[in-house]
Amino acid sequence: MHNDPLLQPYQLKHLTLKNRIMISSHEPAYPEDGMPKGRYRAYHVERARAGVALTMTAGSASVARDSPPVFNNILAWKDEVVGWMRQLADECHLHGCAVMIQLTHLGRRTRWDKADWLPVVSAGHEREAAHRAFPKKAEDWDIARLIKDYADAAERMQAAGLDGIEIQAYGHLMDQFWSPLTNELDAPYGGSLDNRLRFTFEVLNEIRRRVGPDFIVGVRYTGDERLEGGFDRTEGLEISRRLKDSGLVDFLNVVRGHIDTDAGLTDVIPVQGMASAPHLDFAGEIRAATDFPTFHAAKIQDVATARHAIASGKLDMVGMTRAHMTDPHIVAKIIAGEEERIRPCVGANYCLDRIYQGGLAFCVHNAATGREETMPHAIPPADKKRRIVIVGAGPAGMEAARVAAERGHDVIVHEAANDPGGQVRLAAQSERRREMISIIDWRLAECRRLGVTFHFNSFVVGEAVLAEKPDIVIIATGGLPHTDVTGAGDDLVVSAWDILTGDVKPGQNVLIYDDAGDYPGLQAAEKIAETGAKVEIMTRDRSFAPEVMAMSLTPFMRALQKRDVTFTVTWKLQRVERDGNRLLATIDSDYGGVTRTRSVDQVIVNHGTRPLDDIYFELKPGSSNLGAVDYEALVAGNPQSVKGNPDGAYQIFRIGDAVSARNIHAAIYDALRLVKDL
Ligand SMILES: Cc1cc2nc3c(=O)[nH]c(=O)nc-3n(C[C@H](O)[C@H](O)[C@H](O)COP(=O)(O)O)c2cc1C
Ligand code: SF4
Repeated sequence: MHNDPLLQPYQLKHLTLKNRIMISSHEPAYPEDGMPKGRYRAYHVERARAGVALTMTAGSASVARDSPPVFNNILAWKDEVVGWMRQLADECHLHGCAVMIQLTHLGRRTRWDKADWLPVVSAGHEREAAHRAFPKKAEDWDIARLIKDYADAAERMQAAGLDGIEIQAYGHLMDQFWSPLTNELDAPYGGSLDNRLRFTFEVLNEIRRRVGPDFIVGVRYTGDERLEGGFDRTEGLEISRRLKDSGLVDFLNVVRGHIDTDAGLTDVIPVQGMASAPHLDFAGEIRAATDFPTFHAAKIQDVATARHAIASGKLDMVGMTRAHMTDPHIVAKIIAGEEERIRPCVGANYCLDRIYQGGLAFCVHNAATGREETMPHAIPPADKKRRIVIVGAGPAGMEAARVAAERGHDVIVHEAANDPGGQVRLAAQSERRREMISIIDWRLAECRRLGVTFHFNSFVVGEAVLAEKPDIVIIATGGLPHTDVTGAGDDLVVSAWDILTGDVKPGQNVLIYDDAGDYPGLQAAEKIAETGAKVEIMTRDRSFAPEVMAMSLTPFMRALQKRDVTFTVTWKLQRVERDGNRLLATIDSDYGGVTRTRSVDQVIVNHGTRPLDDIYFELKPGSSNLGAVDYEALVAGNPQSVKGNPDGAYQIFRIGDAVSARNIHAAIYDALRLVKDL
């Protein structure tokens, strides 16, 4: 264990990092009023306590007013940030974890209609597709104030007791100066590489002048834009050498690619179904060419790959960022020899996709992440052992079983199917989403370790549940697809599930009416299009598949556009009729006054699920709580004590899609939140 390459300390200047695993900078959008307060601190401290060597806090902490936050970033231009960062750093330091922060000016990667409504500034007028703002071109006075802004923010972080900072230079203002695609300035800040790098070195010089030689300063930058007309790896290597030779920086944190489009961002930060560690070799080449401390993160999800990254000498510090969102205790588990117990990151990217929609970063299958103040990562034992019967082994049922077993209860699970997983097992049928099954496999392994009893192929009725003499019954039976959406012809349509399970063969000319807008519609489309069939996806909404967010949509778009799948928004399926051996679909619109038809041979409806709740309603009258949940107690983290029926022999609760169609995170959060207090 002690010669594990990952557990060897790393000397960065005067700073000893206790092992080789770091969390790279990522903004989970947890700030309150732009400051890293309780939720933010608790998130980092949980990971510091469990042994990560370095946490690079924030993500794109803003150095200036005209870099308004795009995903609720920390406002590093405010003096009050010092107190909050000091508290965070002090608490992480207690656990021997180094703390740094990423500082940036977003340049054009933001919007003018945020915060103070100041114009967006960049090195040219070209807009960024993802944020759409047309920027002003930086003037001399902009450059002068921005240099000062960076240095002020660096000084604040030094005052807060941080171990260092890194400057962001991929897709932000700094490298908008570097790239010929975005730099339209004349000399001395535009034109030659020297000129394009001038702003960067002026910023770094001013930072050094303020923080002195000892404070650690690094740069997280793209070493190859991978964009026609942008700078390539040759120029990237030259930039890397110059950063090193400047003597102004202490480490290079290597990124590869561009982030101005959803697709570009997804190649930089790959999601599930995409290759693991795709830029590791590139980072290794930069390390070899510069012989300088090199950090890197990009889909290094598992310990074996991380170990390889260090052992092979490609990296000095390996970032496992989303992996730590899924399991904060990775390092502790490596040290304890329990690597196989690490909760795996499945690349669902729910975390990152959410922040671009204004949400907080939550992990699809760890509901305690980002909720450390109220949800435990390590489940405490219950005062009293109870007998808990769970019906259904989808994500909600499996999480309920795991948490109940961690509490020390006697847990019995009945599942009607051969295997656990429910809708997750269905989702994992697509190669692209195969990683999802780890959500279930990890829980199954944990449950087995904790002694949960499973009965598969066990379709139970109320009597069988009561025969177990439960103290608590949890109904997690999920739902079934609901396709009754038309005025006529519902019997002529099939569900997206029918295609995914293989129960129905794909047609040749297919209309997919998808107003649930979640994964099954797209998965069905891909499966059908792969056969060579003609596929049209239609929704009454303004955009299609809104529940499959930006980066997660990228691999689907790549597959579907290649197959000429068409996307029709703002049209609604009205009715379906038989027309010889074909189907005639009539469509209309919420905007009114129009109807059209489509002649196809298959109509598929994706309209969510309806709860499978018979057993719940059968058992509800005999329960002590009559199914009621005290929401105040649930949210406050108190036990459930509703007693509408004093004669009831057991409590009954319903979770996940058995209540209403939601998503995996909601199902898992339902289970964790309820069962942690049972
Ligand atoms: C929620 C979230 C926010 C992120 N925000 C930033 C950011 O502001 N700046 C940055 O350099 N990287 C950001 N990243 C990228 C991560 O630092 C990291 O490069 C990426 O997640 C790939 O590493 P991983 O596969 O280990 O997660 C973010 C990632 C996540 C998940
Ligand atoms: S949401 Fe998905 S990608 Fe993000 S941390 Fe969780 S498992 Fe990993």
